[in-house]
Amino acid sequence: MIQKKIIEPPEFGKISTEFNINNRIILHRGQSKEFLKTIPDKQIRLIITSPPYNLGKDYEIELELAEYLNKQEKIIQDLIRTLADDGSICWEIGNYIKDGEVYPLDFYFYKIFKKYNLKLRNRIIWHFGHGLHCQNRFSGRYETILWFTKTDNYIFYLDKVRVPQKYPGKRAYKGPNKGKPSGDPLGKNPSDVWKILFDDWNSAFWEFPNVKSNHPEKTIHPCQFPVELAERCILALTNENDYILDPYCGVGSSLIAGIKHNRKVIGVDKEIEYINITKTRIKQFFQGKLKVRPLGKKLHQPTGREKISQIPEEWKNLKDRRNKRN
Ligand SMILES: C[S@@+](CC[C@H](N)C(=O)[O-])C[C@H]1O[C@@H](n2cnc3c(N)ncnc32)[C@H](O)[C@@H]1O
Repeated sequence: MIQKKIIEPPEFGKISTEFNINNRIILHRGQSKEFLKTIPDKQIRLIITSPPYNLGKDYEIELELAEYLNKQEKIIQDLIRTLADDGSICWEIGNYIKDGEVYPLDFYFYKIFKKYNLKLRNRIIWHFGHGLHCQNRFSGRYETILWFTKTDNYIFYLDKVRVPQKYPGKRAYKGPNKGKPSGDPLGKNPSDVWKILFDDWNSAFWEFPNVKSNHPEKTIHPCQFPVELAERCILALTNENDYILDPYCGVGSSLIAGIKHNRKVIGVDKEIEYINITKTRIKQFFQGKLKVRPLGKKLHQPTGREKISQIPEEWKNLKDRRNKRN
């Protein structure tokens, strides 16, 4: 869907390249480690990012796992320094795979964040329906978002991200509230499993489609995350005009989410190509031309009548592989 409304005067969309407290949109091409030095202590309310996974993608050189983690730890130390005392870090991460063995990176990152006294509030499962079809293990269909806070005094606005209950008409059957509606009129807690919001009334999950070729937000970036995913974190964990930082911003998905909700944003990426796409996306956003999947939009659900939902003719005469196996 094309977002049509121009939400702010064009000068609001000015993009700066260096940190200055008066700049609302900062997009810097370079190494995160270097840029972070320019941000004063405790300026950021939310750090939301998906770091490189050490998989040897176009934008990274695969290292020994220990070396990769060591490098990340140094950046994490700087990130924590820039984080406000009531701020949060949302670290979106998948698996590192080496010789067919799976290394769940969130296990390793958890230890790093704990070392610096951060407190885990949720380990969110982001479930998506598509991806590689594995032959030697079950196909991976989730990644995790580690949500840490710096202290016990942190911002969390549950009401901003509630989803409708399955049975809003349910009433308490005992106790002092007997006979009264038992749910919250604003909806229920969306839980720590985020699945595409296919139908809130029938599903307890939030699910965001991972950004693949038929997604309206798709760019050339191989590992984009959906704007919607960042929006949920931003709405729950920040106030308007707070700074959101993505130290590995890719094509700027977190920045778009922040701008959309009137936050100040900072993004850093070392690849000029991604920085240029981010600039274009921001510009398109202010022109009302950026394609983004609206927050909470229902997922397309096949009816079973579509051609691609039906068993191919060629398979109908094949011996059932399942019978053979039993
Ligand atoms: C997993 S991608 C992030 C994608 C992003 N969430 C999006 O939606 O577009 C990681 C990004 O980190 C960038 N990157 C890797 N190492 C970096 C470094 N040392 N400094 C800055 N950016 C880096 C890569 O160019 C890549 O775009």
